[in-house]
Amino acid sequence: MNEGLMTVAYIGATILFILSLGGLSHPETSRRGNLFGIIGMTIAVVATLLGPRITGVSNYANIMIGMAIGASLGVFAAIRVKMTQMPELVALMHSLVGLAACLVGFANFIDPTAHFTGAERTIHEVEIYIGILIGAVTFSGSVIAFGKLSGKIGGKPMLLPARHMLNLGLLVGVIVIGKWFLETETPEAGLAPLVLMTLISLAFGVHMVMAIGGADMPVVVSMLNSYSGWAASATGFMLSNDLLIVVGALVGSSGAILSYIMCRAMNRQFIAVIAGGFGTGGGTAPAAGGEAPQGEVQSISASETAEMLRSASNVIIVPGYGMAVAQAQHTVFEITTVLRAKGVNVRFGIHPVAGRMPGHMNVLLAEAKVPYDIVLEMDELNHDFPQTDVAMVIGANDIVNPAAQEDPNSPIAGMPVLEVWKAKTSIVMKRSMASGYAGVDNPLFYKENNRMLFGDAKKMLDEVLNSLRA
Ligand code: TAP
Repeated sequence: MNEGLMTVAYIGATILFILSLGGLSHPETSRRGNLFGIIGMTIAVVATLLGPRITGVSNYANIMIGMAIGASLGVFAAIRVKMTQMPELVALMHSLVGLAACLVGFANFIDPTAHFTGAERTIHEVEIYIGILIGAVTFSGSVIAFGKLSGKIGGKPMLLPARHMLNLGLLVGVIVIGKWFLETETPEAGLAPLVLMTLISLAFGVHMVMAIGGADMPVVVSMLNSYSGWAASATGFMLSNDLLIVVGALVGSSGAILSYIMCRAMNRQFIAVIAGGFGTGGGTAPAAGGEAPQGEVQSISASETAEMLRSASNVIIVPGYGMAVAQAQHTVFEITTVLRAKGVNVRFGIHPVAGRMPGHMNVLLAEAKVPYDIVLEMDELNHDFPQTDVAMVIGANDIVNPAAQEDPNSPIAGMPVLEVWKAKTSIVMKRSMASGYAGVDNPLFYKENNRMLFGDAKKMLDEVLNSLRA
Protein backbone atom coordinates (compact mmCIF):
# COMPACT_ATOMS: atom_id res chain seq x y z
CA MET A 1 0.00 0.00 0.00
CA ASN A 2 1.48 3.37 -0.98
CA GLU A 3 1.70 6.46 1.25
CA GLY A 4 -1.26 8.22 -0.44
CA LEU A 5 -3.61 5.29 0.00
CA MET A 6 -2.59 4.90 3.62
CA THR A 7 -3.28 8.58 4.32
CA VAL A 8 -6.75 8.19 2.78
CA ALA A 9 -7.36 5.10 4.94
CA TYR A 10 -6.22 6.98 8.05
CA ILE A 11 -8.48 9.97 7.31
CA GLY A 12 -11.39 7.55 6.72
CA ALA A 13 -10.68 5.79 10.02
CA THR A 14 -10.47 9.14 11.86
CA ILE A 15 -13.86 10.21 10.50
CA LEU A 16 -15.35 6.85 11.52
CA PHE A 17 -13.96 7.25 15.05
CA ILE A 18 -15.50 10.72 15.34
CA LEU A 19 -18.85 9.36 14.07
CA SER A 20 -18.47 6.51 16.55
CA LEU A 21 -18.06 8.88 19.50
CA GLY A 22 -21.04 10.91 18.25
CA GLY A 23 -23.15 7.74 18.00
CA LEU A 24 -22.15 6.49 21.43
CA SER A 25 -23.46 9.66 23.05
CA HIS A 26 -27.09 8.45 22.84
CA PRO A 27 -28.62 5.00 23.56
CA GLU A 28 -30.65 5.14 20.33
CA THR A 29 -27.58 5.58 18.12
CA SER A 30 -25.05 3.69 20.22
CA ARG A 31 -25.16 0.44 18.23
CA ARG A 32 -24.40 2.37 15.05
CA GLY A 33 -21.63 4.23 16.89
CA ASN A 34 -20.13 0.94 17.97
CA LEU A 35 -20.23 -0.37 14.40
CA PHE A 36 -18.46 2.75 13.09
CA GLY A 37 -15.77 2.20 15.72
CA ILE A 38 -15.27 -1.44 14.70
CA ILE A 39 -15.01 -0.58 10.99
CA GLY A 40 -12.66 2.35 11.75
CA MET A 41 -10.39 0.15 13.85
CA THR A 42 -10.30 -2.60 11.20
CA ILE A 43 -9.31 -0.07 8.53
CA ALA A 44 -6.69 1.42 10.87
CA VAL A 45 -5.08 -1.94 11.68
CA VAL A 46 -5.06 -3.17 8.07
CA ALA A 47 -3.69 0.15 6.71
CA THR A 48 -0.97 0.22 9.37
CA LEU A 49 0.11 -3.37 8.69
CA LEU A 50 0.17 -2.95 4.91
CA GLY A 51 1.35 0.67 4.91
CA PRO A 52 4.86 1.82 4.00
CA ARG A 53 5.65 3.38 7.35
CA ILE A 54 5.85 0.14 9.28
CA THR A 55 9.60 -0.27 9.67
CA GLY A 56 11.73 -3.14 10.83
CA VAL A 57 8.96 -5.70 10.42
CA SER A 58 10.09 -8.71 8.51
CA ASN A 59 7.96 -11.32 10.16
CA TYR A 60 4.23 -10.75 9.80
CA ALA A 61 3.58 -14.17 11.30
CA ASN A 62 4.65 -12.87 14.72
CA ILE A 63 2.18 -9.98 14.45
CA MET A 64 -0.60 -12.35 13.43
CA ILE A 65 0.11 -14.68 16.35
CA GLY A 66 0.14 -11.69 18.73
CA MET A 67 -3.15 -10.42 17.31
CA ALA A 68 -4.74 -13.85 17.52
CA ILE A 69 -3.74 -14.24 21.18
CA GLY A 70 -4.92 -10.70 22.04
CA ALA A 71 -8.21 -11.11 20.17
CA SER A 72 -8.90 -14.49 21.85
CA LEU A 73 -8.26 -13.04 25.30
CA GLY A 74 -10.50 -10.06 24.44
CA VAL A 75 -13.36 -12.25 23.20
CA PHE A 76 -13.02 -14.56 26.21
CA ALA A 77 -13.10 -11.61 28.64
CA ALA A 78 -16.04 -9.96 26.85
CA ILE A 79 -18.11 -13.16 26.91
CA ARG A 80 -17.31 -14.02 30.53
CA VAL A 81 -17.63 -10.59 32.11
CA LYS A 82 -20.96 -9.69 33.71
CA MET A 83 -22.48 -6.31 32.92
CA THR A 84 -21.89 -5.23 36.51
CA GLN A 85 -18.17 -6.08 36.18
CA MET A 86 -17.75 -3.88 33.12
CA PRO A 87 -16.04 -0.97 34.94
CA GLU A 88 -13.40 -3.37 36.31
CA LEU A 89 -12.78 -4.71 32.81
CA VAL A 90 -12.54 -1.17 31.45
CA ALA A 91 -10.04 -0.26 34.19
CA LEU A 92 -7.98 -3.34 33.29
CA MET A 93 -8.07 -2.36 29.59
CA HIS A 94 -6.85 1.13 30.48
CA SER A 95 -3.93 -0.41 32.33
CA LEU A 96 -2.95 -2.28 29.15
CA VAL A 97 -2.89 0.98 27.16
CA GLY A 98 -0.58 2.46 29.81
CA LEU A 99 1.64 -0.62 29.79
CA ALA A 100 1.82 -0.53 25.97
CA ALA A 101 2.90 3.14 26.07
CA CYS A 102 5.69 2.25 28.54
CA LEU A 103 6.92 -0.71 26.50
CA VAL A 104 6.84 1.23 23.23
CA GLY A 105 8.75 4.06 24.96
CA PHE A 106 11.53 1.77 26.17
CA ALA A 107 11.67 -0.12 22.86
CA ASN A 108 11.97 3.20 21.02
CA PHE A 109 14.70 4.41 23.30
CA ILE A 110 16.93 1.37 22.94
CA ASP A 111 16.14 0.90 19.23
CA PRO A 112 19.61 0.47 17.64
CA THR A 113 18.33 1.54 14.20
CA ALA A 114 17.19 4.97 15.40
CA HIS A 115 19.73 7.71 14.73
CA PHE A 116 18.61 11.15 15.84
CA THR A 117 20.87 14.13 16.29
CA GLY A 118 20.57 17.69 17.62
CA ALA A 119 17.08 19.13 18.16
CA GLU A 120 15.45 16.09 16.58
CA ARG A 121 17.05 13.87 19.21
CA THR A 122 15.84 16.13 22.04
CA ILE A 123 12.28 16.09 20.68
CA HIS A 124 12.40 12.31 20.31
CA GLU A 125 13.64 11.88 23.88
CA VAL A 126 11.03 14.30 25.28
CA GLU A 127 8.33 12.27 23.49
CA ILE A 128 9.69 9.06 25.00
CA TYR A 129 9.97 10.57 28.48
CA ILE A 130 6.43 12.01 28.50
CA GLY A 131 5.00 8.88 26.86
CA ILE A 132 6.46 6.58 29.51
CA LEU A 133 5.44 9.00 32.28
CA ILE A 134 1.77 9.07 31.25
CA GLY A 135 1.83 5.35 30.48
CA ALA A 136 3.23 4.39 33.88
CA VAL A 137 0.74 6.59 35.81
CA THR A 138 -2.12 5.15 33.72
CA PHE A 139 -0.90 1.59 34.22
CA SER A 140 -0.46 1.58 38.00
CA GLY A 141 -3.48 3.85 38.61
CA SER A 142 -5.71 1.57 36.53
CA VAL A 143 -4.48 -1.57 38.26
CA ILE A 144 -5.38 -0.04 41.64
CA ALA A 145 -8.75 1.16 40.24
CA PHE A 146 -9.39 -2.41 39.06
CA GLY A 147 -8.57 -3.66 42.56
CA LYS A 148 -10.91 -1.16 44.19
CA LEU A 149 -13.79 -1.69 41.78
CA SER A 150 -13.59 -5.47 42.07
CA GLY A 151 -13.39 -5.29 45.85
CA LYS A 152 -9.89 -6.83 45.96
CA ILE A 153 -8.66 -3.61 47.58
CA GLY A 154 -10.85 -1.87 50.21
CA GLY A 155 -12.81 1.21 49.12
CA LYS A 156 -11.52 3.23 52.05
CA PRO A 157 -9.19 6.06 50.96
CA MET A 158 -5.57 5.70 52.03
CA LEU A 159 -4.59 9.16 53.20
CA LEU A 160 -0.87 9.49 53.86
CA PRO A 161 0.21 12.48 55.95
CA ALA A 162 1.31 15.43 53.76
CA ARG A 163 0.12 13.59 50.65
CA HIS A 164 -0.07 16.79 48.59
CA MET A 165 3.54 17.59 49.48
CA LEU A 166 4.47 14.04 48.55
CA ASN A 167 2.79 14.43 45.15
CA LEU A 168 4.54 17.75 44.63
CA GLY A 169 7.87 16.13 45.61
CA LEU A 170 7.30 13.34 43.05
CA LEU A 171 6.49 15.93 40.36
CA VAL A 172 9.66 17.93 41.10
CA GLY A 173 11.63 14.66 41.12
CA VAL A 174 10.28 13.76 37.66
CA ILE A 175 11.28 17.18 36.27
CA VAL A 176 14.80 17.01 37.72
CA ILE A 177 15.30 13.45 36.45
CA GLY A 178 13.97 14.60 33.06
CA LYS A 179 16.77 17.17 32.86
CA TRP A 180 19.31 14.47 33.78
CA PHE A 181 17.83 12.16 31.12
CA LEU A 182 18.09 14.78 28.36
CA GLU A 183 21.71 15.52 29.29
CA THR A 184 22.88 11.89 28.95
CA GLU A 185 24.93 11.09 25.86
CA THR A 186 24.30 7.38 25.25
CA PRO A 187 21.25 5.11 25.49
CA GLU A 188 23.08 3.10 28.17
CA ALA A 189 23.49 6.21 30.34
CA GLY A 190 19.91 7.36 29.66
CA LEU A 191 18.38 4.13 30.83
CA ALA A 192 19.01 4.81 34.53
CA PRO A 193 17.02 8.10 34.74
CA LEU A 194 14.30 6.59 32.53
CA VAL A 195 13.85 3.58 34.83
CA LEU A 196 13.92 5.84 37.91
CA MET A 197 11.25 8.12 36.46
CA THR A 198 9.12 5.07 35.55
CA LEU A 199 9.28 3.83 39.14
CA ILE A 200 8.29 7.27 40.48
CA SER A 201 5.39 7.48 37.99
CA LEU A 202 4.20 4.01 38.98
CA ALA A 203 4.29 5.06 42.65
CA PHE A 204 2.41 8.27 41.80
CA GLY A 205 -0.34 6.30 40.01
CA VAL A 206 -0.75 3.99 43.01
CA HIS A 207 -0.75 6.87 45.49
CA MET A 208 -3.22 8.94 43.48
CA VAL A 209 -5.88 6.23 43.19
CA MET A 210 -5.34 4.76 46.68
CA ALA A 211 -6.20 8.19 48.13
CA ILE A 212 -9.62 8.22 46.50
CA GLY A 213 -12.74 7.30 48.44
CA GLY A 214 -15.28 4.77 47.19
CA ALA A 215 -17.95 7.24 46.11
CA ASP A 216 -15.50 9.11 43.91
CA MET A 217 -14.40 6.08 41.88
CA PRO A 218 -16.59 6.98 38.84
CA VAL A 219 -14.55 10.14 38.39
CA VAL A 220 -11.33 8.14 38.61
CA VAL A 221 -12.45 5.64 36.00
CA SER A 222 -13.31 8.37 33.50
CA MET A 223 -10.10 10.24 34.38
CA LEU A 224 -8.01 7.11 33.74
CA ASN A 225 -9.94 6.70 30.50
CA SER A 226 -8.71 10.16 29.55
CA TYR A 227 -5.13 9.37 30.65
CA SER A 228 -5.15 6.19 28.56
CA GLY A 229 -6.07 8.36 25.53
CA TRP A 230 -3.14 10.69 26.17
CA ALA A 231 -0.87 7.66 26.65
CA ALA A 232 -1.99 6.35 23.24
CA SER A 233 -1.42 9.80 21.76
CA ALA A 234 2.10 9.91 23.22
CA THR A 235 2.73 6.46 21.71
CA GLY A 236 1.58 7.89 18.38
CA PHE A 237 4.25 10.61 18.64
CA MET A 238 6.93 8.04 19.47
CA LEU A 239 5.96 5.87 16.50
CA SER A 240 5.30 8.87 14.19
CA ASN A 241 1.82 7.48 13.63
CA ASP A 242 -0.66 10.30 12.90
CA LEU A 243 -3.74 8.15 13.36
CA LEU A 244 -2.68 7.03 16.83
CA ILE A 245 -2.03 10.66 17.79
CA VAL A 246 -5.50 11.72 16.61
CA VAL A 247 -7.35 8.74 18.10
CA GLY A 248 -5.48 9.13 21.39
CA ALA A 249 -6.40 12.81 21.48
CA LEU A 250 -10.07 11.92 20.77
CA VAL A 251 -10.14 9.42 23.64
CA GLY A 252 -8.16 11.76 25.91
CA SER A 253 -10.40 14.76 25.33
CA SER A 254 -13.69 12.84 25.43
CA GLY A 255 -12.51 11.18 28.66
CA ALA A 256 -11.67 14.60 30.07
CA ILE A 257 -15.15 15.90 29.14
CA LEU A 258 -16.72 12.83 30.74
CA SER A 259 -14.63 13.42 33.89
CA TYR A 260 -15.89 16.99 33.96
CA ILE A 261 -19.52 15.81 33.66
CA MET A 262 -18.89 13.22 36.40
CA CYS A 263 -17.34 15.88 38.65
CA ARG A 264 -20.39 18.06 38.22
CA ALA A 265 -22.64 15.10 39.02
CA MET A 266 -20.62 14.35 42.16
CA ASN A 267 -20.17 18.04 43.02
CA ARG A 268 -16.38 17.73 42.98
CA GLN A 269 -13.80 20.22 41.72
CA PHE A 270 -12.36 19.20 38.35
CA ILE A 271 -8.95 20.74 39.10
CA ALA A 272 -8.75 18.88 42.43
CA VAL A 273 -9.44 15.65 40.56
CA ILE A 274 -6.77 16.32 37.93
CA ALA A 275 -4.27 17.02 40.72
CA GLY A 276 -5.20 13.68 42.31
CA GLY A 277 -5.51 12.87 46.00
CA PHE A 278 -9.15 13.89 46.26
CA GLY A 279 -12.14 12.02 47.50
CA THR A 280 -13.10 12.87 51.02
CA GLY A 281 -13.63 16.61 50.50
CA GLY A 282 -13.61 17.56 54.18
CA GLY A 283 -16.09 14.85 55.16
CA THR A 284 -15.27 11.80 57.20
CA ALA A 285 -13.83 8.82 55.40
CA PRO A 286 -16.46 6.22 54.51
CA ALA A 287 -16.51 3.21 56.77
CA ALA A 288 -15.36 0.12 54.91
CA GLY A 289 -18.19 -2.11 56.02
CA GLY A 290 -20.82 0.64 56.34
CA GLU A 291 -22.11 2.36 59.46
CA ALA A 292 -24.47 0.94 62.06
CA PRO A 293 -28.11 1.52 61.06
CA GLN A 294 -29.86 4.25 63.04
CA GLY A 295 -33.60 3.94 63.73
CA GLU A 296 -36.70 1.91 62.91
CA VAL A 297 -37.88 1.08 59.41
CA GLN A 298 -41.36 0.17 58.11
CA SER A 299 -41.55 -2.87 55.82
CA ILE A 300 -44.08 -3.39 53.06
CA SER A 301 -45.08 -6.52 51.10
CA ALA A 302 -45.07 -7.01 47.34
CA SER A 303 -48.88 -7.08 47.17
CA GLU A 304 -49.15 -3.86 49.21
CA THR A 305 -46.61 -2.28 46.86
CA ALA A 306 -48.71 -3.36 43.87
CA GLU A 307 -51.80 -1.88 45.48
CA MET A 308 -50.04 1.44 46.07
CA LEU A 309 -48.76 1.57 42.50
CA ARG A 310 -52.18 0.71 41.10
CA SER A 311 -53.90 3.53 42.92
CA ALA A 312 -51.20 6.12 42.12
CA SER A 313 -51.46 8.76 39.39
CA ASN A 314 -47.76 9.64 39.21
CA VAL A 315 -44.94 7.17 39.77
CA ILE A 316 -41.20 7.75 39.47
CA ILE A 317 -38.94 4.71 39.35
CA VAL A 318 -35.32 5.21 40.43
CA PRO A 319 -33.13 2.29 39.37
CA GLY A 320 -29.66 1.66 40.79
CA TYR A 321 -26.89 -0.88 40.96
CA GLY A 322 -29.17 -3.54 42.56
CA MET A 323 -31.43 -3.59 39.50
CA ALA A 324 -28.36 -4.40 37.40
CA VAL A 325 -27.22 -7.16 39.80
CA ALA A 326 -30.68 -8.74 39.88
CA GLN A 327 -31.15 -8.27 36.10
CA ALA A 328 -34.61 -6.97 36.93
CA GLN A 329 -34.93 -4.49 34.05
CA HIS A 330 -37.27 -6.70 31.99
CA THR A 331 -39.71 -7.10 34.89
CA VAL A 332 -39.45 -3.35 35.49
CA PHE A 333 -40.48 -2.83 31.87
CA GLU A 334 -43.45 -5.18 32.23
CA ILE A 335 -44.62 -3.43 35.40
CA THR A 336 -44.29 -0.10 33.60
CA THR A 337 -46.38 -1.40 30.70
CA VAL A 338 -49.14 -2.67 33.01
CA LEU A 339 -49.24 0.58 34.98
CA ARG A 340 -49.24 2.77 31.86
CA ALA A 341 -52.10 0.70 30.46
CA LYS A 342 -54.02 1.57 33.64
CA GLY A 343 -53.36 5.28 33.01
CA VAL A 344 -50.59 5.74 35.60
CA ASN A 345 -47.95 8.28 34.59
CA VAL A 346 -44.70 6.30 35.03
CA ARG A 347 -41.30 7.93 34.57
CA PHE A 348 -37.72 6.93 35.33
CA GLY A 349 -35.24 9.14 37.18
CA ILE A 350 -31.63 8.46 36.21
CA HIS A 351 -28.78 9.67 38.39
CA PRO A 352 -25.56 10.37 36.44
CA VAL A 353 -23.56 7.90 38.58
CA ALA A 354 -26.27 5.29 39.18
CA GLY A 355 -24.88 1.77 38.92
CA ARG A 356 -21.19 1.25 38.27
CA MET A 357 -20.49 2.99 34.97
CA PRO A 358 -21.67 6.04 33.06
CA GLY A 359 -24.98 5.33 31.35
CA HIS A 360 -25.34 1.96 33.14
CA MET A 361 -29.07 2.36 33.81
CA ASN A 362 -29.79 3.81 30.35
CA VAL A 363 -28.20 0.74 28.73
CA LEU A 364 -30.23 -1.69 30.85
CA LEU A 365 -33.53 0.15 30.32
CA ALA A 366 -32.87 0.44 26.58
CA GLU A 367 -32.14 -3.32 26.48
CA ALA A 368 -35.51 -3.93 28.16
CA LYS A 369 -37.19 -1.66 25.57
CA VAL A 370 -38.35 1.01 28.03
CA PRO A 371 -39.36 4.01 25.84
CA TYR A 372 -36.65 6.72 25.85
CA ASP A 373 -39.14 9.55 26.38
CA ILE A 374 -40.04 8.39 29.91
CA VAL A 375 -36.40 7.98 30.96
CA LEU A 376 -35.32 11.35 32.36
CA GLU A 377 -32.13 12.78 33.80
CA MET A 378 -32.02 13.71 37.49
CA ASP A 379 -32.15 17.45 36.80
CA GLU A 380 -35.18 17.05 34.52
CA LEU A 381 -37.46 15.57 37.15
CA ASN A 382 -36.00 16.23 40.60
CA HIS A 383 -38.49 19.07 41.17
CA ASP A 384 -41.42 16.73 40.36
CA PHE A 385 -41.13 14.53 43.46
CA PRO A 386 -43.51 16.64 45.63
CA GLN A 387 -46.26 15.95 43.03
CA THR A 388 -45.41 12.23 42.87
CA ASP A 389 -47.52 9.60 44.64
CA VAL A 390 -44.97 6.80 44.71
CA ALA A 391 -41.22 6.98 44.21
CA MET A 392 -40.02 3.43 43.73
CA VAL A 393 -36.32 2.90 44.37
CA ILE A 394 -35.03 -0.33 42.85
CA GLY A 395 -31.64 -1.43 44.20
CA ALA A 396 -30.38 2.14 44.54
CA ASN A 397 -28.90 3.58 47.70
CA ASP A 398 -26.24 6.35 47.53
CA ILE A 399 -28.00 8.22 44.74
CA VAL A 400 -31.14 8.69 46.89
CA ASN A 401 -29.35 9.41 50.17
CA PRO A 402 -30.71 12.60 51.82
CA ALA A 403 -27.53 12.78 53.96
CA ALA A 404 -25.89 14.33 50.90
CA GLN A 405 -28.05 17.39 51.54
CA GLU A 406 -28.73 17.16 55.26
CA ASP A 407 -25.41 16.11 56.81
CA PRO A 408 -22.39 18.31 56.02
CA ASN A 409 -20.10 15.71 57.60
CA SER A 410 -21.26 12.90 55.34
CA PRO A 411 -18.63 11.57 52.88
CA ILE A 412 -21.16 12.21 50.12
CA ALA A 413 -22.10 15.72 51.36
CA GLY A 414 -22.84 18.02 48.44
CA MET A 415 -23.39 15.22 45.92
CA PRO A 416 -26.65 15.90 44.04
CA VAL A 417 -29.22 13.16 44.74
CA LEU A 418 -32.71 12.21 43.57
CA GLU A 419 -35.05 13.64 46.20
CA VAL A 420 -37.35 10.60 46.48
CA TRP A 421 -38.27 11.39 50.09
CA LYS A 422 -40.27 14.39 48.85
CA ALA A 423 -42.78 12.06 47.14
CA LYS A 424 -45.96 11.15 49.10
CA THR A 425 -44.53 7.68 49.64
CA SER A 426 -41.14 6.25 48.77
CA ILE A 427 -40.57 2.50 48.51
CA VAL A 428 -37.02 1.19 48.67
CA MET A 429 -36.50 -2.27 47.26
CA LYS A 430 -33.29 -3.98 48.42
CA ARG A 431 -32.26 -7.15 50.21
CA SER A 432 -31.12 -5.80 53.57
CA MET A 433 -30.16 -2.67 55.47
CA ALA A 434 -26.64 -2.83 53.98
CA SER A 435 -25.07 0.41 52.79
CA GLY A 436 -24.31 1.18 49.14
CA TYR A 437 -21.01 1.69 47.36
CA ALA A 438 -19.97 4.71 49.44
CA GLY A 439 -20.42 2.72 52.67
CA VAL A 440 -22.65 5.28 54.42
CA ASP A 441 -25.95 4.76 56.22
CA ASN A 442 -29.04 6.08 54.46
CA PRO A 443 -31.50 8.17 56.58
CA LEU A 444 -34.11 7.74 53.82
CA PHE A 445 -34.90 4.23 55.14
CA TYR A 446 -36.10 5.66 58.49
CA LYS A 447 -38.29 8.44 57.15
CA GLU A 448 -41.97 8.49 58.08
CA ASN A 449 -43.18 8.22 54.48
CA ASN A 450 -40.71 5.52 53.46
CA ARG A 451 -41.40 1.78 53.17
CA MET A 452 -38.84 -1.00 52.71
CA LEU A 453 -39.56 -3.88 50.34
CA PHE A 454 -36.87 -6.38 51.37
CA GLY A 455 -35.71 -9.04 48.91
CA ASP A 456 -33.94 -9.62 45.63
CA ALA A 457 -35.15 -7.00 43.14
CA LYS A 458 -36.04 -9.52 40.42
CA LYS A 459 -37.94 -11.81 42.81
CA MET A 460 -39.83 -8.96 44.49
CA LEU A 461 -40.70 -7.27 41.20
CA ASP A 462 -42.00 -10.57 39.82
CA GLU A 463 -44.30 -10.76 42.85
CA VAL A 464 -45.39 -7.13 42.37
CA LEU A 465 -46.10 -7.87 38.70
CA ASN A 466 -48.14 -10.96 39.58
CA SER A 467 -50.19 -8.96 42.09
CA LEU A 468 -50.73 -6.19 39.54
CA ARG A 469 -51.98 -8.70 36.99
CA ALA A 470 -54.17 -10.57 39.47
P1 TAP B 1 -25.36 1.66 45.58
O1 TAP B 1 -25.32 2.88 46.39
O2 TAP B 1 -24.11 0.86 45.44
O3 TAP B 1 -26.54 0.77 46.18
C1 TAP B 1 -26.96 -0.38 45.54
C2 TAP B 1 -27.88 -1.13 46.46
O4 TAP B 1 -28.41 -2.22 45.71
C3 TAP B 1 -27.17 -1.74 47.66
O5 TAP B 1 -27.38 -0.98 48.80
C4 TAP B 1 -27.72 -3.17 47.75
O6 TAP B 1 -28.38 -3.31 49.01
C5 TAP B 1 -28.75 -3.22 46.63
N1 TAP B 1 -28.70 -4.50 45.92
C6 TAP B 1 -27.63 -5.21 45.54
N2 TAP B 1 -28.00 -6.34 44.93
C7 TAP B 1 -29.36 -6.36 44.95
C8 TAP B 1 -30.34 -7.28 44.48
N3 TAP B 1 -30.01 -8.42 43.87
N4 TAP B 1 -31.64 -6.96 44.65
C9 TAP B 1 -31.99 -5.81 45.27
N5 TAP B 1 -31.12 -4.92 45.74
C10 TAP B 1 -29.81 -5.19 45.57
O7 TAP B 1 -25.85 1.97 44.08
P2 TAP B 1 -26.43 3.30 43.45
O8 TAP B 1 -27.47 3.89 44.32
O9 TAP B 1 -26.76 2.92 42.04
O10 TAP B 1 -25.23 4.32 43.49
C11 TAP B 1 -24.07 4.13 42.71
C12 TAP B 1 -22.85 4.18 43.61
O11 TAP B 1 -21.75 3.58 42.90
C13 TAP B 1 -22.43 5.60 43.95
O12 TAP B 1 -21.83 5.65 45.21
C14 TAP B 1 -21.39 5.88 42.85
O13 TAP B 1 -20.48 6.87 43.22
C15 TAP B 1 -20.71 4.54 42.76
N6 TAP B 1 -20.05 4.29 41.47
C16 TAP B 1 -20.67 4.67 40.34
C17 TAP B 1 -20.04 4.49 39.13
C18 TAP B 1 -20.73 5.01 37.91
S1 TAP B 1 -19.90 5.72 36.80
N7 TAP B 1 -22.02 4.89 37.78
C19 TAP B 1 -18.78 3.84 39.06
C20 TAP B 1 -18.19 3.40 40.27
C21 TAP B 1 -18.85 3.64 41.48
P3 TAP B 1 -28.60 -4.80 49.61
O14 TAP B 1 -27.23 -5.40 49.70
O15 TAP B 1 -29.24 -4.54 50.93
O16 TAP B 1 -29.48 -5.52 48.67
